[in-house]
Amino acid sequence: MRNVKCLLVILSFFMPLVQTLGQRTTSRDATSTRANALLAKMTLEEKIGQLNQLFFLSQLMKPEMMEPGIRDGKIGSLLFVTNPALINRFQKVAVEQSRLKIPLLFGFDVIHGFRTVFPVPLAMASSWDPTMVERAQTIAAREARAVGVRWTFAPMVDIARDPRWGRIVEGAGEDPYLGAKMSAAQVRGFQGSDPSAPGRLLACVKHFAGYGAADGGRDYDSAYLSDAELYNVYLPPFKAAVDAGVGSVMSAYMDLNDVPATGNAFLLNDVLRKQWDFKGFVVSDANSVGDLVTHGFAADKADAAFRALTAGVDMEMTFPLGDVGFAYANSLAKLVNERRLSIEQIDNAVRRILETKLKLGLFENPYVDESAVASNHNNPEHRQLARLAAQRSAVLLRNEGNLLPLTRGDSKISSIAVVGPLADSKRDIRGSWTLADDVKTAVSVVEGIRTKVGPGVKVDYAQGVDIGRAYPSIFDIFSGPRPKPWSEAQQREEFEKALALARSSDLVVLVLGEHEEMSGEGATHSTIDLPGRQRELLEAVSALGKPTVLVLINGRPVDIHWAVNRVPAILEAWHPGSEGGNAIADLIYGDATPGGKLPVTWPRSSGQIPIYYAHNLTQKPETAKDFTSRYWDLPTSPLYPFGYGLSYTTFAYSNLRVSKAQARVGESVEVLVDIENTGRRAGEEVVQLYIHQRSGGAARPVRELKGFERVALASGEKKTVRFTLGKAELTYWSSAVKGWVQEPATFDVWTGGDSTATLTTTFRVVN
Ligand code: NOJ
Repeated sequence: MRNVKCLLVILSFFMPLVQTLGQRTTSRDATSTRANALLAKMTLEEKIGQLNQLFFLSQLMKPEMMEPGIRDGKIGSLLFVTNPALINRFQKVAVEQSRLKIPLLFGFDVIHGFRTVFPVPLAMASSWDPTMVERAQTIAAREARAVGVRWTFAPMVDIARDPRWGRIVEGAGEDPYLGAKMSAAQVRGFQGSDPSAPGRLLACVKHFAGYGAADGGRDYDSAYLSDAELYNVYLPPFKAAVDAGVGSVMSAYMDLNDVPATGNAFLLNDVLRKQWDFKGFVVSDANSVGDLVTHGFAADKADAAFRALTAGVDMEMTFPLGDVGFAYANSLAKLVNERRLSIEQIDNAVRRILETKLKLGLFENPYVDESAVASNHNNPEHRQLARLAAQRSAVLLRNEGNLLPLTRGDSKISSIAVVGPLADSKRDIRGSWTLADDVKTAVSVVEGIRTKVGPGVKVDYAQGVDIGRAYPSIFDIFSGPRPKPWSEAQQREEFEKALALARSSDLVVLVLGEHEEMSGEGATHSTIDLPGRQRELLEAVSALGKPTVLVLINGRPVDIHWAVNRVPAILEAWHPGSEGGNAIADLIYGDATPGGKLPVTWPRSSGQIPIYYAHNLTQKPETAKDFTSRYWDLPTSPLYPFGYGLSYTTFAYSNLRVSKAQARVGESVEVLVDIENTGRRAGEEVVQLYIHQRSGGAARPVRELKGFERVALASGEKKTVRFTLGKAELTYWSSAVKGWVQEPATFDVWTGGDSTATLTTTFRVVN
């Protein structure tokens, strides 16, 4: 009797869970039943139509160009339409005039904001604050959804260890652990717990996989990665997105170990679908199916379509002008008729897309409410969060003699010269992939400082140099070309004007870096030198001996080795977004305290690239006294290590301890450390945990990040931070056994404020 009672209690406890799981299974079943019912009615042409995604660029195309194809069921998705009236117009053709009334799925690159621009992803990673990143992407989703966009091509989670690669700006930097946290946070931000819910988007993790390892940092170039590097370094952020429930995946452009990612069955079928059980759909990157021919991989477009579809690409993203695309649309039917492809293979791809459209509720709610857009976009909370995000993303690299923060009302500073090519640029404060905002509303650095100091302080601006640009950007079609480069005479005149202004002012804020399109897609640089004559300007201004604050606006680490011992204060703001100027002024004047940390190792100069903290020990590590693997002309250490960043206060770490000195394979170890704010101001510190496995079946990196927490501390406050090192943290993919292993070994542990932390202890793992 007692046993029966017990059973009933247990059952009643688990029933709700069983019911929820049951409901989920039922709704999944219902979705797949509906998708199958629809599939049964579709002609082969209509099925292929669902696999066809087209760009619509209003700069180049007329809506009438698209409508017949939509009406005939030949288009399943459009990208780049952001005008809600046009979205409704196209959708009406799909759901009211096409035979099966299947709605279109509208996609767009909502990368770091939509109307409100948040800091670029590399900057958001510098916040080491996944909660804030999730909130930012929630707002981005809300704004994009308001115009009828239902799908974002984000997060971009490519690990990048070569800052010459322009797309380093779009990801979270060099580290798989930080990258995985940022990846999952973004998926949660975009999709919430249900991507069909109001204000949410379907996310698309990209570019699968290894794109950031392009040879020489040249965009689209081949990547050669061992399986160990893939599994241990490049794939974890993708896996994190899949675990967070990401609904779609985009294939990459480059070839990985000679097999283009878009035709790579190992990546898409074996890893993504079989090993990770991914249930969503895969979209190609733009024209990358047809480009399988360009790679010298597929014989012709039909072969390309065959290779991509069988490798696991469901939808082809195509540019409709020229002859670059339409590999699927023009050849899949023929391939089926010739029996190279079975109808089941087509159905599988179509089913995944139909199921997604059903799950998004597009059949029930295909339209967007055009009248609600303005109120959504004019929400001041969005701008407040953008400002906070920019404050939290900035990294203070140097602050000699505590020049910062400045004090408002300081009688010694009655005039400020804000100098440099990025100082008054609304366009460049935003960064790559800002295609749907109103650039006029962005706040430049000069504007931010003027607002902050008020009329009592004279704030003047001089551009000083013209960065120029040798190469047109693929984004010029949206943002327009740059003004004509200055003539020699104008260059001389402007340079002198800037110097004169700096000379006659009490303080100089020098704003240097890159134009927004100097990083991002197709923006490869052979060096990380400051573009144009900025270095000359930096030297000339520094020679004046004025108190000088260097603010960097850029999408990659740039070569500032000259400045680091000469300019007292250096603040890395990256491209901080719409509220960038205000946030920078907040930071300079201490209304916000910098707490960001570098998500990349900062090279001393281009010659050190690639450089990353989690390298292996060598036969002659840099600590060796005789010959080492160091350069003859440069130290091996970077200018700034991964994880580095200062505050206006100071922190002390102490009392590092582990919960046990010895653990069995599979058991967890707790790591605890005390952190105290030893300065006079409140501040936030990113407490970082690194480990090193001393021996094993394969050599392991000198250090690997395995935990972090951004902690807020009042002056004098002390907290204990606790981390767990479990199976996930202690396991790695070993090329010795070609699989995941957790090995008995001694582990070093470090905690501190960057990847050179010295507070250390050890524990052992035994069998
Ligand atoms: C090409 C880019 O590589 C990708 O990241 C982007 O999402 C698509 N174009 C669509 O714009």
